[in-house]
Amino acid sequence: MGNPFHYGTPVTGAQFAGRKEELRALTSRMRDGINVVVASPRRYGKTSLIGKAGAELERSGAAVVQVNVLRCRDLPTLASQLLTHAYRAKHGGWHRLKHGVPDFVRRFRVSPALGFDASGMPKFTFAPTMTSTDADAVLADVYALLAELSAKAPAVLVLDEFQAIADLGDHLPGLFKALADEHPSVSLVVAGSKKHLMERLVTTRDAPLFGMAEHLALDVLPADVMTAFVVRRSRAGGKDMPKPVADLLVELSGPVPNDVQHLAYEVFDVAGATVTAADVEAGLQRAVQHEAGLHADRFEALSPGQRRVVAQLAVEPTSQPLSASFVRQVRLANSSSVRKALEVLVADELVVQRDGSYRVADPFFAAWLRG
Ligand SMILES: Nc1ncnc2c1ncn2[C@@H]1O[C@H](COP(=O)(O)OP(=O)(O)OP(=O)(O)O)[C@@H](O)[C@H]1O
Ligand SMILES: [Mg+2]
Repeated sequence: MGNPFHYGTPVTGAQFAGRKEELRALTSRMRDGINVVVASPRRYGKTSLIGKAGAELERSGAAVVQVNVLRCRDLPTLASQLLTHAYRAKHGGWHRLKHGVPDFVRRFRVSPALGFDASGMPKFTFAPTMTSTDADAVLADVYALLAELSAKAPAVLVLDEFQAIADLGDHLPGLFKALADEHPSVSLVVAGSKKHLMERLVTTRDAPLFGMAEHLALDVLPADVMTAFVVRRSRAGGKDMPKPVADLLVELSGPVPNDVQHLAYEVFDVAGATVTAADVEAGLQRAVQHEAGLHADRFEALSPGQRRVVAQLAVEPTSQPLSASFVRQVRLANSSSVRKALEVLVADELVVQRDGSYRVADPFFAAWLRG
């Protein structure tokens, strides 16, 4: 076995920790045709959770169609992706039929071009010149197909990175709302990270999808769950990690699961048969150095005042950033300058408010800032 930790992309199997309650809540709603919005900041584990819930449901016979909206450069690509994934939905069974492709394509008002991916699976595409009306018809037909399948077993449509939907067409949020209303037996699951965009689409009163989905706000995993996970995975990889060392690792990198796994990866890499506190420090330095260029770019993009605010927060998070002493520490004219700097830093997700305090979101950037 190589390094037992993984970061950056969604995790499955033994690399997935905890989340029992969230998983239960999500799978039961998917099964019951209830619409759900899953929101959290980046790298909390939305895609991993949705993937696990979808896989569990598929094993019990459900049809799950999942598309990442951010990966679709235009509306025809979204239509192509939806069609391709609908074809592959296990429960549909088209991929097992001899005449599966013509049988499947016949159901749609607009005919796609047929191609094959690297593994020989059919994939469908529409020309970039496709009209918006035709693309909308494909979206509606996919939804109707799922509604038909839902008569026999649960049917779920997952749109990950949903905050990007309006970039593909201003009318799309309204269209999905109309389709969800028309086909209440299909569970529509939308997930996204950009808080203000998700609010504008789903959770505020005048949002186009307001009131049609249950809100599942995904929090980080509890520290004790992450610690137990790190100890367990390290042992599975052949290195013993005493609990106090794992506690230190989680304290330095947490609470975002991606950051914990990132540091654990580096620490595991530098450690010998037993992981020590010195390995945790060395791993942190490595993680900081690997991305030093990125940290420098981030820092350089800020104004001098914003730089001083973020650097001070890296040294010491504060619940009182508008206090006279903080204003003096960051050498700004007054509290309103600090407030403006913080607004930008929070909007860029460089700074977060957690446990009542403003702090640097990325523990590696924070370590880089501390020098
Ligand atoms: N349940 C979990 N157990 C352990 N690690 C996790 C878990 N969920 C997420 N992670 C860690 O977080 C990383 C990112 O997970 P994922 O891609 O699912 O997050 P996301 O919220 O979809 O992120 P993004 O907003 O960038 O799409 C994973 O590579 C893994 O390191
Ligand atoms: Mg994701």
